[in-house]
Amino acid sequence: MDTVMMGLDKNLIGQKLEKDVYSETGILVVAAGTYISEKVYQKMESYFINNVHIKKKETKDKKYQDYAVIKSTYLKNVDVMKTVLKEISLNGTVDDEMIMDMTNSITLHSQKMGYFIDCIHDLKSADEYTYNHSINVAIYAMLIGSWMKLPEIDIQYLVLAGILHDVGKSKIPNEILNKNTRLTDEEFAIMKKHSHLGYCIVKDMENIPEDVKKAVLMHHEKLDGSGYPLRCKSKQIPKFAQILAVADVYDALTSKRVYKDKITPFETFKEMSKMGYSHFAPDVLMTFLKNIVYYYVGFKLKLNTGEIGEILYVSPLNNYQPLIKVEGKVIDLSLDKRYSILEMA
Ligand SMILES: [Fe+2]
Repeated sequence: MDTVMMGLDKNLIGQKLEKDVYSETGILVVAAGTYISEKVYQKMESYFINNVHIKKKETKDKKYQDYAVIKSTYLKNVDVMKTVLKEISLNGTVDDEMIMDMTNSITLHSQKMGYFIDCIHDLKSADEYTYNHSINVAIYAMLIGSWMKLPEIDIQYLVLAGILHDVGKSKIPNEILNKNTRLTDEEFAIMKKHSHLGYCIVKDMENIPEDVKKAVLMHHEKLDGSGYPLRCKSKQIPKFAQILAVADVYDALTSKRVYKDKITPFETFKEMSKMGYSHFAPDVLMTFLKNIVYYYVGFKLKLNTGEIGEILYVSPLNNYQPLIKVEGKVIDLSLDKRYSILEMA
């Protein structure tokens, strides 16, 4: 592993420890994998810890190159998605090969997920929402699958399910799909048909596993039975559909749409926690919220005061009020109510 030993310093707050930290008398002070918070820092200081191991920073060039590769993969997939959906709506045919190529191009980079998250946030487009959204859901579903330690093949199928989950929207009239105001009840009833329409499109595709087809059909089911189209409850909803549901809602809330603005990931964590287990499978939601927060450490943001800051640390126990570094001072949003996040920069 590419680690480097650093002298204990306040600048390390927000970074992850790559090795266990022991006191001189052999007591385990902090375990590997812990993020250095103010408290963790103070604990290490009280044990007179001098050095810790953190991840070696990549050079700017290497970072730039990696990001460029992921960005071109992401943009290419958005373009292919456009072609796939147009093809379905015009001819009713799905190009299996294109779908499989997209799946492979995403899973190939499963070790670089941080860059995919950067792409999702950098390249959001209200006009291209349907295409970006399918790729984003595939990426978030892959993340959840790997955090849940699912087998490799399931993770591959989750990416496939994410790509396909909204193919039924190709059969929804454009005036409803692209309407720039909220849908009426009648229009929403038509929109809700997309998951069943999607299932009808994929059900005869030989290369698509049954679990993926069911996930396409059931990605809008909710645990309390208030979802659609089958109004299934808890365990009647297959795992892949439960995972897509979390990925889908997270991307929808953090995306700008023609009729609504996006909300920040932190407000979204709060919203999804409120929706809670009546909507989502507890193990899936907990795994997602616990892990996704770490991807936002280092993200730039704008506060309500106009100041630009950087996410320093997000506690899994209070994931919507992070610690923020602003020009030499550290603001704890859970304690200092004068501040709030206006937008992610
Ligand atoms: Fe959907």
